[in-house]
Amino acid sequence: MSAPKNLDMTDTPATLRLIQLTDLHLFADIKQSFKGCITQTALERTLDFIAAENLRPDAFLLTGDLAHDHKAETYLRLADMLEHFHVPSFALAGNHDNEVVMQSVYPSKGVDMHPWQNMRGWRILLLPTAIPNRADGRIDSKLWAQLSAKMQQPPAQPYLLAMHHNLLDHPLRAIRASVADAPQYRQALAHWPAVRAVLSGHVHQPFSIYEGHCLYLSTPSTGVLPYPKRVQETMSRPGFRLIDCFADGRVISDIICPMTH
Ligand SMILES: [Fe+2]
Repeated sequence: MSAPKNLDMTDTPATLRLIQLTDLHLFADIKQSFKGCITQTALERTLDFIAAENLRPDAFLLTGDLAHDHKAETYLRLADMLEHFHVPSFALAGNHDNEVVMQSVYPSKGVDMHPWQNMRGWRILLLPTAIPNRADGRIDSKLWAQLSAKMQQPPAQPYLLAMHHNLLDHPLRAIRASVADAPQYRQALAHWPAVRAVLSGHVHQPFSIYEGHCLYLSTPSTGVLPYPKRVQETMSRPGFRLIDCFADGRVISDIICPMTH
């Protein structure tokens, strides 16, 4: 099937258009594969599609598992590839990253790891969750305290949270929340209507679940299919997430899967 030619999702222009790329699992060796995927090729195809379709994001959100080999040159090559779009990229570490190496490389060529970002009336918080040598995650308590303080006086600005690990379960996909004390954080978010959406990766599968006013969005890997096999064949394809954010706090989002294999 050929790619759709018009990906505009609404007649009203979005205030802010983001593209989330997650779980890239790149290597310095561009021919190296992970779980049967040559991850560099998958990312190239993804970025080629974004350029060819003229999706024109205002920024990229890179939500972890960026360089599977933790090498500085891999992180730098990613920055080189994104530089062609001439927009900023906001990055955080996943459980397969090395945050120390990332911080030694970024900011570079528009890729930035600063947790607080302001864009076109929206506040974006990059919330680190990765714990060295652990698959599961824990929310950065200092940043959470900062967020909590801002929510004591409900802000006029809409907020978007981006993290690597997922806060929600999805039983149909055999997904469990991968963040410690997830129910406690979700309970807090239920009382913070300014937080319009929480974006995550990690499970390499898409989902979209409303809990109260908050939209929890999971995004597949740019190339690496999830396990178990039955899930990858029936419910998941590699891709990325397009997120249109409007001035009134609305979020319209969908997964786009450029590859047809
Ligand atoms: Fe991953």
